[in-house]
Amino acid sequence: MEIVIANESHFKYAQIICDTIAESAKIRGTGIAKRTPEYIMKRLQNGNAIIALDGDKFAGFCYIEVWGNKDFVANSGLIVHPDYRNQGLAKQIKKAVFDLSRKKFPDAKIFGITTGLAVMKMNYELGYKPVTFSELTDDPEFWKGCQTCKNFDILTRTEQKMCLCTGMLYDPNAKKVEEPKKLNSKAFQRLKQIKETLFLKKKQK
Ligand SMILES: CC(C)(COP(=O)(O)OP(=O)(O)OC[C@H]1O[C@@H](n2cnc3c(N)ncnc32)[C@H](O)[C@@H]1OP(=O)(O)O)[C@@H](O)C(=O)NCCC(=O)NCCS
Repeated sequence: MEIVIANESHFKYAQIICDTIAESAKIRGTGIAKRTPEYIMKRLQNGNAIIALDGDKFAGFCYIEVWGNKDFVANSGLIVHPDYRNQGLAKQIKKAVFDLSRKKFPDAKIFGITTGLAVMKMNYELGYKPVTFSELTDDPEFWKGCQTCKNFDILTRTEQKMCLCTGMLYDPNAKKVEEPKKLNSKAFQRLKQIKETLFLKKKQK
């Protein structure tokens, strides 16, 4: 398995990246920001993405997005092809994109929003902390990305204060405090359930 910084030679994988992201979101039944092949190509081109290849077969992908005048960067669009899951590949891609973010944008806070337990676990192990949305970028372009998510009405209803996703932040300037290295998965699952009951029930009324 080759895990590398992407470039123009990887344009041919833009379509399969989009299809795999869309297909996985459909199966999970969760909301996701939609991405077009053109959007993915831009990320492949600017040296801000990591791609994993098994020979010439697509295995995984994740990219860096820069927000709010480089104060914030997000590691977004993490996807591992179903044929390569549960082998630790996402963890390796996440680490590679985190290291690339720290190298290219050493002063930026790194953040993400997610409903996925796997992503929460990996972020936590890298030093991210769960935070309220008010701690994340207020760049409207970032939040516009949520418009294609099926839960966007919740974000609108709460005036962008909360949604089904949990915000997570790595602050390079935060004081290092010794904390458990593993996320408390049960607590996260419980929080997710509470949010779903609260928001989705309201929606059905
Ligand atoms: C989520 C995803 C990226 C995980 O890829 P993967 O290569 O199978 O993950 P890894 O094998 O590296 O596992 C990383 C950690 O997540 C855990 N994990 C993996 N899939 C999980 C799942 N579906 N639910 C809960 N935990 C999961 C693993 O147990 C591991 O944790 P551990 O270190 O405590 O054992 C992959 O399933 C995927 O592409 N899913 C669809 C897209 C998606 O959900 N993207 C995230 C958008 S928010």
